[in-house]
Amino acid sequence: MPSLSILSTLLSLALSRTALAASGADWRSRTIYQIVTDRFARTDGSTTAACDTGTGDYCGGSWQGIIDQLDYVQNMGFDAIWISPVTQQLDGLTADGAAYHGYWQTNIDAVNQHFGSASDIQNLAAELHSRNMYFMVDIVVNHYAWSGAPDTVDYSTFGPFNNQNYFHSYCAIDFNDISNTTQIEQCWMGDTIVPLPDLKTEVQNVSSVWNSWIGDLVSNYSIDGLRIDSLMEVNTGFWSGFQQNAGVYSLGEVYNGDSTFVCGYQDYVPGVFNYAMYFPMIAAFQSTTGSIGDLANMIDTIKSCPDTSMLGTFSENHDQPRFASLNSDMSLAKNIIAFTMLTDGIPVIYQGQEQHFVGTGGGSTPYNREALWLSGYNTEAELYTHVTQLNAARHAAINADDTYTTTQNSHIYYDYTNLAMRKGDMVTVVTNVGSTGSNYTLDIPSGYAANTGVTELLTCDTLTTSSNGTLTVPISAGLPRVYYPTASLSGSDVCTSSSKKLKRSRHFRLAAES
Ligand SMILES: *[C@@H]1O[C@H](CO)[C@@H](O)[C@H](O)[C@H]1NC(C)=O
Ligand SMILES: *[C@@H]1O[C@H](CO)[C@@H](O)[C@H](O)[C@H]1NC(C)=O
Ligand SMILES: *[C@@H]1O[C@H](CO)[C@@H](O)[C@H](O)[C@H]1NC(C)=O
Ligand SMILES: *[C@@H]1O[C@H](CO)[C@@H](O)[C@H](O)[C@H]1NC(C)=O
Ligand SMILES: *[C@@H]1O[C@H](CO)[C@@H](O)[C@H](O)[C@H]1NC(C)=O
Repeated sequence: MPSLSILSTLLSLALSRTALAASGADWRSRTIYQIVTDRFARTDGSTTAACDTGTGDYCGGSWQGIIDQLDYVQNMGFDAIWISPVTQQLDGLTADGAAYHGYWQTNIDAVNQHFGSASDIQNLAAELHSRNMYFMVDIVVNHYAWSGAPDTVDYSTFGPFNNQNYFHSYCAIDFNDISNTTQIEQCWMGDTIVPLPDLKTEVQNVSSVWNSWIGDLVSNYSIDGLRIDSLMEVNTGFWSGFQQNAGVYSLGEVYNGDSTFVCGYQDYVPGVFNYAMYFPMIAAFQSTTGSIGDLANMIDTIKSCPDTSMLGTFSENHDQPRFASLNSDMSLAKNIIAFTMLTDGIPVIYQGQEQHFVGTGGGSTPYNREALWLSGYNTEAELYTHVTQLNAARHAAINADDTYTTTQNSHIYYDYTNLAMRKGDMVTVVTNVGSTGSNYTLDIPSGYAANTGVTELLTCDTLTTSSNGTLTVPISAGLPRVYYPTASLSGSDVCTSSSKKLKRSRHFRLAAES
């Protein structure tokens, strides 16, 4: 019975793919550190090599460099990284800069040699997996790139889409008219210096190439998840076949502040970046006049997304201004990071956010892509410690409660400058008064039972709720507060006597070494 044996071979192939691939459910409990490969770490380990963000040329980061600096990422508590696209790119330095970011591909069957070799990517995956970390790779399906006017594109130089008939004819995309789906999906991104020829993803001779390519990419490099660039610029009908062939979780970019619009794409891919939350978040924490009410409203609105636990929640990325360029106050930075990591979704922290980078020269793209090595990989930085504590807090909640990630966050109190929210048993209080704010207390209707002992996970201070469950939260210097029932922390290494002992012994060890 040959058909049966074919069937069983197919079945075992499918099973082995499933065993390797990480689904959305596997990703929910992870936190992702976003790496711009060219700007994270060099093979020579330099912490001084200059990087001129304004010119936009390659600065020398590599896949081997990432391997060498994984302690820096893992010791902050991250268990996944997202790296730049790996495909071969447009050569040379244009007036728009070079293709160091990876969004200007010319051949998807070759890797970007500026970053190393295919075996370096495989080594990176192996190193990540040996640390129980996930590997997410950025991919671009929507477009290729060309240096020169749109009517001068030599399609024969592209691989494998080496014919004009694979591409839509030129028109400039108009982002002010997203209601015209046809032009969003078929017109070209980029500009007339580097136009981005737009693939006919709706025709079978294009989609079938992508479908087999993504299966190969995922298996060649043991990829656990994908970040999908320019998701809404591709026809929605393309994604189900692609997603099936990928077999892993994916997180797509839909640059829009409307939650219904953004989350609508969860009908096609498991995850999207939570741009709907991003805008009110940035506004709320930027200054005391930022609207906390709008942020609270978005916590409500986002609940109707198909799956809030699979959204990618972020407050910085390579396309948005550094938060510190909007307001450099350290307490505000701590609040927005606490909100990012403890609200719904999979937290994504952009490299350099933990070093309080400001994007010197302008704050926005391309200045927000500083070389991380210039920080000296400082693990004593205030925000590095803060992110580490928040990762530990989130892990403690997940360990104590396997419904934590899928339990939706709710606001339980807010006023003009403060917001308290509860997700599972975690109560987070954030404020935008900043580090010069006065000291005060807030009576929060915590939802905890009367006389519950809780621990503040950033200071390890303890509190007890009142006889009606109110938590009287002391705010000082505008710092965020994160509470969890003390009794539920016993199995964790957060604020327990064993973790204090651990810190003390580390202190003694350091003292002894000096
Ligand atoms: C791919 O298919 C489309 C529509 O079926 C066709 O117009 C186009 O010429 C084909 N492309 C190539 C390169 O053959
Ligand atoms: C949508 O945009 C395309 C391309 O610019 C244009 O040809 C078409 O007329 C537009 N459709 C509508 C309904 O505006
Ligand atoms: C996967 O590896 C095979 C064998 O080395 C190679 O032919 C193919 O181009 C690779 N595909 C991708 C997408 O990396
Ligand atoms: C609960 O107790 C606090 C003091 O512990 C008090 O300020 C508050 O008014 C009480 N709330 C209710 C609803 O009784
Ligand atoms: C606020 O409280 C902190 C300690 O909790 C103290 O160090 C600081 O001086 C106080 N600030 C003001 C303005 O009273």
